Amino acid sequence: MSAPVTVRVPAKVNVQLAVGAARPDGFHDLANVFLAVGLYDEVTAAPADTLTITCSGPDAARVPLDSTNLAARAARALAERYGIEPAVRLHIAKDIPVAGGMAGGSADGAAALVACDALWGTGASRDELLAICAELGSDVPFSLVGGAALGLGRGEKLTPVEVGGTFHWVFAVADGGLSTPAVYGEFDRLTAGTEVPEPTASPALLAALRSGDAGALAGALSNDLQPAALSLRPALAATLAAGTEAGAWAALVSGSGPTTAFLVPDDAAGQKVADALTASGTCRDARVAVSPAPGARVERF
Ligand code: C5P
Repeated sequence: MSAPVTVRVPAKVNVQLAVGAARPDGFHDLANVFLAVGLYDEVTAAPADTLTITCSGPDAARVPLDSTNLAARAARALAERYGIEPAVRLHIAKDIPVAGGMAGGSADGAAALVACDALWGTGASRDELLAICAELGSDVPFSLVGGAALGLGRGEKLTPVEVGGTFHWVFAVADGGLSTPAVYGEFDRLTAGTEVPEPTASPALLAALRSGDAGALAGALSNDLQPAALSLRPALAATLAAGTEAGAWAALVSGSGPTTAFLVPDDAAGQKVADALTASGTCRDARVAVSPAPGARVERF
């Protein structure tokens, strides 16, 4: 009987999310600069007769444990590829905000894949794992690789991006989640009748990451989904303002939201901004984290 395998996997923030027009398949071409941040879920895979999945953590009740769960889908996809039964007990220790625009579900998919590969000894190559990740969702490949990367296509075609320093963040967790398809739908509604430019990565943003210059990064952050997220959730404007007033160098919606991200100069400023955000009553929780962070990695057998 194999010993359980635990994989730790980070959340992400999009430091640039440039969104093109809707494609015929309904997806949008992106220039998506992902940065992994040090808020982590842990997925444990243990031997079992059938596939079961459980979740713990403050927001566990909001995690769907049916066949739509990306960790369960990852286990099934790997088993199918190797012609074996998806016999595994998966447990998610959830710390990444749920449905928050921080790729928490994608993280669990990537982590489950790495955990099941180790548990079953399938020995899948990195490229095979990345291909399964891309089938599971646009953000899942990045959860596997971590660090920082430019995602083209629907976000799944990754090129590593160099990061020359540590960046400090505060994340304001909103009440409830936002549906990613609904936010993209709102983007389509808001841009209807306009010429949506081809998405391209910002040279200034890539240079700021490479040099580790937080001030330059603050000036280069952008998220084309932010107007759509604010349209669906106008209260997020007050959260963004509260963090900026408390000294954050920049504030933006994380991915499709509703989590908001605040770039701060250092740990002390992060704590001050987190305290101010909590006191403002404009969010449910405020978390400090640093980036970059490594991708999905086996922690213990
Ligand atoms: O790939 P994933 O399953 O995470 O995408 C969820 C939804 O987000 C898609 O069904 C689509 O509505 C939207 N999406 C998009 N363009 C992308 C990525 C996601 O329109 N590049």
